[in-house]
Amino acid sequence: MELLRSLRRTQVIEIISVIGVLALLSLRGAECRKGRILDEFEYTAISCREHSASLTDFGGVGDGVTLNTKAFKAAIDNLSQFASAGGAQLFIPAGKWLTGSFNLTSHFTLYLHKDAVLLASQDVTEWPVVAPLPSYGRGRDAAGGRYVSLIFGTNLTDVIVTGDNGTIDGQGALWWQKFHKGQLKYTRPYLIEIMHSENIQISNLTFLNSPSWNVHPVYSSNILVQSVTIIAPFTSPNTDGINPDSCSNVRIEDCYIVSGDDCVAVKSGWDEYGIAFGMPTKQLVIRRLTCISPFSAVIALGSEMSGGIEDVRAEDILAINTESGVRIKTAVGRGGYVKDIYVRGMTMKTMKWAFWMTGNYGSHPDNHFDPNAFPVIQGINYRDMVAENVSMAARLEGISGDPFTGICISNVTIRMAVKAKKVPWTCTDIEGITSGVTPPPCGLLPDQGPEKITTCAFPAESLPIDTVEVKRCTYRKYL
Ligand SMILES: *[C@@H]1O[C@H](CO)[C@@H](O)[C@H](O)[C@H]1NC(C)=O
Ligand SMILES: *[C@@H]1O[C@H](CO)[C@@H](O)[C@H](O)[C@H]1NC(C)=O
Ligand SMILES: *[C@@H]1O[C@H](CO)[C@@H](O)[C@H](O)[C@H]1NC(C)=O
Ligand SMILES: *[C@@H]1O[C@H](CO)[C@@H](O)[C@H](O)[C@H]1NC(C)=O
Ligand SMILES: *[C@@H]1O[C@H](CO)[C@@H](O)[C@H](O)[C@H]1NC(C)=O
Ligand SMILES: *[C@@H]1O[C@H](CO)[C@@H](O)[C@H](O)[C@H]1NC(C)=O
Ligand SMILES: *[C@@H]1O[C@H](CO)[C@@H](O)[C@H](O)[C@H]1NC(C)=O
Repeated sequence: MELLRSLRRTQVIEIISVIGVLALLSLRGAECRKGRILDEFEYTAISCREHSASLTDFGGVGDGVTLNTKAFKAAIDNLSQFASAGGAQLFIPAGKWLTGSFNLTSHFTLYLHKDAVLLASQDVTEWPVVAPLPSYGRGRDAAGGRYVSLIFGTNLTDVIVTGDNGTIDGQGALWWQKFHKGQLKYTRPYLIEIMHSENIQISNLTFLNSPSWNVHPVYSSNILVQSVTIIAPFTSPNTDGINPDSCSNVRIEDCYIVSGDDCVAVKSGWDEYGIAFGMPTKQLVIRRLTCISPFSAVIALGSEMSGGIEDVRAEDILAINTESGVRIKTAVGRGGYVKDIYVRGMTMKTMKWAFWMTGNYGSHPDNHFDPNAFPVIQGINYRDMVAENVSMAARLEGISGDPFTGICISNVTIRMAVKAKKVPWTCTDIEGITSGVTPPPCGLLPDQGPEKITTCAFPAESLPIDTVEVKRCTYRKYL
């Protein structure tokens, strides 16, 4: 009796749910007459797309072994036809998708499922060689060309690479070995490089083990990098996190970076090539960044800064076990400038140097740099910071005959490590002021005294990139 009754109840529930599903299906069918919905989800992006497709439509196989370079090319070639018809989005389902380098297109979104992993091919022939960047004159690892990045785009507008925290794994160990053994014919590839483009979003992704730099927007503007996790071993060479390079109007926020090089490295070209190209990085916002990088900086400005770096605003930064906080790197021969830099609200735990400025970084592309090309370093503002377990508060080295000026540091408390250096500040060829800074700064940065408390500048008005908002978008694919 009891059994019968419960059976009936399940049957009734089944019948009701079948009716429900049928009603839902007929409703959706009536709405769009495209048949059953195979896949549907929502996400946020700067622009939404009319057309949806999956990598599997183009023969993609996510078994970790099959090479998908052709599938990516076929998919993106096909979807590029929708550029002027509402744009297209390409979905990468759960799986391991081995691939060589592929190129993006305009009005396009690449979306990675949370369990999708793009595995970078370790076959060097899967990486076409492209020309060196004109503002660098040569590759960073070797003279001449560069292996194109895993995901590459040039001369594009409105490109989105996002997901539900899907993964892009560079499998970089092979490249790191080649680098250490001096076996590289060309410069190592990056995970993503977008060049000569505008309206770019890179968000909600995890980048692992890049062969070299991770995210490299160059000669581009209106760029949003949001909620990105970047992880590489501490000892991996040049695995910078995010490198805005000759870019303007850039917003980097809510990122978590553990790496073997600078978490964010702001750049603009190298010596005579960068001076000739003359394209600065400016109007850059960095906020809510967590950085762990024992051998490098949280935010590096340079060392390639020959096109200039201007108007950088960083706030709400957490650094743990990192070599230095903000670091300016430059040299005679660079030319260019680093000016109007504003940083506030930074917490640092276990650091070698809280602040570091280096005027003799060296590292020239060739011997043709101009020995009279002196960089201008001016208007550097740091305030509202606490640092703990620090070996040395600051090492600030300008250039003889070319001092770094307009340095302002206020409301900064640095607690020295038990084994700290005896002299917490070393300063040469710099000029500026401090207010409410401990331990007491060097003589070149005189404290304004308790009667004249200074608050270093931080702009009140927002930048154009701050007005960019994300919309709710839908991916919907029919059977
Ligand atoms: C590519 O685009 C065309 C429309 O031009 C379409 O008919 C075709 O089915 C697409 N290919 C694939 C594999 O989806
Ligand atoms: C991507 O574009 C670059 C530059 O236009 C080109 O050199 C490269 O061969 C392209 N890669 C692929 C896989 O088509
Ligand atoms: C891309 O844009 C740059 C800068 O505007 C231009 O010099 C270059 O010729 C363009 N390349 C292509 C392939 O259109
Ligand atoms: C992407 O990140 C944003 C900002 O952290 C968050 O609001 C959003 O829910 C995330 N989206 C997905 C699909 O994970
Ligand atoms: C994304 O994945 C990484 C790596 O698994 C993880 O550390 C991180 O917390 C994830 N982020 C979000 C927002 O889920
Ligand atoms: C000093 O900096 C701390 C953060 O380290 C902040 O909470 C505090 O409000 C700042 N004080 C002033 C007067 O701005
Ligand atoms: C302080 O820094 C040293 C390295 O300089 C590290 O070994 C030690 O664990 C740190 N102490 C704390 C309390 O974080």
